[in-house]
Amino acid sequence: MKHGFDIRIVSYEHIHSIHKKDWNKLLKAINPQPNEIILDGMCGYGAVGKRILEKENSAKLFLLDESKVQMKRAEANLPEVPKKNFTISSLPKSNFKKEFFDKIVIKMGLHEVPKKEQVNIAKEVSRILKPKGKFIVWDIMLNNKTQSLFQDIIRKKDELSEFDMLTKERYFFKEDEFLKTMREATFSKITEFHTINYKFSSRKRLESELHNDKKKLNLLNEFIRKRFPKELKQPLDFKDNGDDIQFMITKKIYIMTK
Ligand SMILES: C[S@@+](CC[C@H](N)C(=O)[O-])C[C@H]1O[C@@H](n2cnc3c(N)ncnc32)[C@H](O)[C@@H]1O
Repeated sequence: MKHGFDIRIVSYEHIHSIHKKDWNKLLKAINPQPNEIILDGMCGYGAVGKRILEKENSAKLFLLDESKVQMKRAEANLPEVPKKNFTISSLPKSNFKKEFFDKIVIKMGLHEVPKKEQVNIAKEVSRILKPKGKFIVWDIMLNNKTQSLFQDIIRKKDELSEFDMLTKERYFFKEDEFLKTMREATFSKITEFHTINYKFSSRKRLESELHNDKKKLNLLNEFIRKRFPKELKQPLDFKDNGDDIQFMITKKIYIMTK
């Protein structure tokens, strides 16, 4: 079976409508300094690493992802980074030395693995991070009302996109589960740094994920219409524009130290 991200070739800037101000906040959270050793973990095509180097070109950037296809995209995106700094590895396993990194960033990565692996990844990050190092996470933060709703909608989208492995493996955590995971992995200082209001748009998934198949988009929209609880429509700013369904979901940037 193919790794999900070997076939999920998308632009997160497009499908997640990322605003410049949120990228700026991420860079503020990372605050890269000259010669710091920084890991862009679960890097995809290296969008985070690229911005780190634009801000501080003397940073020693490393990138890790388990998908060979994504790693090729990252290498093409970051020709200035030495080849030895690209690691194809599946977290929580990594061959980095203990306390090697000043900073580790994982953007939209933790929810890609099963729940039990999330704590193992955070523990591995803690192992390879220097004692005063920072772990910066950008991810979706759900709650009791939104967790199963969002997970069901994304599962349906993955099923229609034929991303079979993603459908089975991902766990979209609730914010309180995320905080518990971080504490279990020995991060004692946990700072909520920034809130991102992410507007989900079903239409934005048409070209890159639903293979430009309008029937699939209709099926996804039908599913969302039926699944969306009436009482959440107003709080989540639900909008049904016929071929596009939109609603708001919260993402956050957290900074952790040990
Ligand atoms: C949604 S993408 C985010 C990519 C990038 N961080 C960004 O925001 O642009 C998630 C990435 O995590 C990678 N990934 C998933 N599970 C992984 C694991 N266990 N170890 C390492 N990488 C993993 C996938 O291959 C994919 O490239």
